[in-house]
Amino acid sequence: MTLNFNHSHNLRLRKRENSLFFKQWIKHPGRLGTLAPISVRLATLAATHINAHERIVEIGAGTGRLTRALLEKGIHPEKLAVIELDSSLTSFLKETLPGLYDEHTPSPYIIEGDATYLDTLIPTEWIGTVDTIVSAIPLMYLEKNQRLAIINAAFKVLKPGGKIVHVTYSPKSPIEFSTTIDQTRVVSLWMNVPPGFVWTYVKKENEQTQTDEINQCEVQRRYS
Ligand SMILES: C[S@@+](CC[C@H](N)C(=O)[O-])C[C@H]1O[C@@H](n2cnc3c(N)ncnc32)[C@H](O)[C@@H]1O
Repeated sequence: MTLNFNHSHNLRLRKRENSLFFKQWIKHPGRLGTLAPISVRLATLAATHINAHERIVEIGAGTGRLTRALLEKGIHPEKLAVIELDSSLTSFLKETLPGLYDEHTPSPYIIEGDATYLDTLIPTEWIGTVDTIVSAIPLMYLEKNQRLAIINAAFKVLKPGGKIVHVTYSPKSPIEFSTTIDQTRVVSLWMNVPPGFVWTYVKKENEQTQTDEINQCEVQRRYS
């Protein structure tokens, strides 16, 4: 699999990403959370916490900058599903992601939909088998019920031992589990504007305990 991604293409694409993202942020600031896509540096660092051979679902893919970092890391497009709520952003993903590869390489699954209903969006056979959910959804701006629904949906499609890799712009975890879910801040990029962080949350083997803990979790509200 070869990436068809030269430098000038890269710069043109970034300009288009920035302008579309900002336009959509004006329309839906709470949904997008920040006014620009993730920096390439933060996206690359987040991608280091994902194994290339894994089955991955990305929720809140935006313009696909993080998606591109995952693909550049070597994740196979057939093992990647990207979910995006905004129809203009989804159209942009459908236009720009397949062209990264030669015509023989299949595209990632690109799905317009609400991550709250994740188990109805991804291929049925993926449910319970996903290794990693990558998320940059601005959880802080969502109502508590919706936050919990998204987190529960993510844990539902993960395999036991699978993990959520969540990008946020607060040094505090946006999800404070009440008990013992294994959560770790794995990236702290203070020089990013704004400072960017990556947290991982690991799914336990005992699913009932997991659901109880998610329902009791508190989400810090001020940052995504
Ligand atoms: C902070 S942006 C991140 C975009 C991209 N991953 C990046 O880092 O540049 C959050 C994205 O999540 C999407 N989003 C918000 N709520 C969502 C939901 N319930 N389901 C799917 N996507 C959602 C927004 O439309 C937006 O594109």
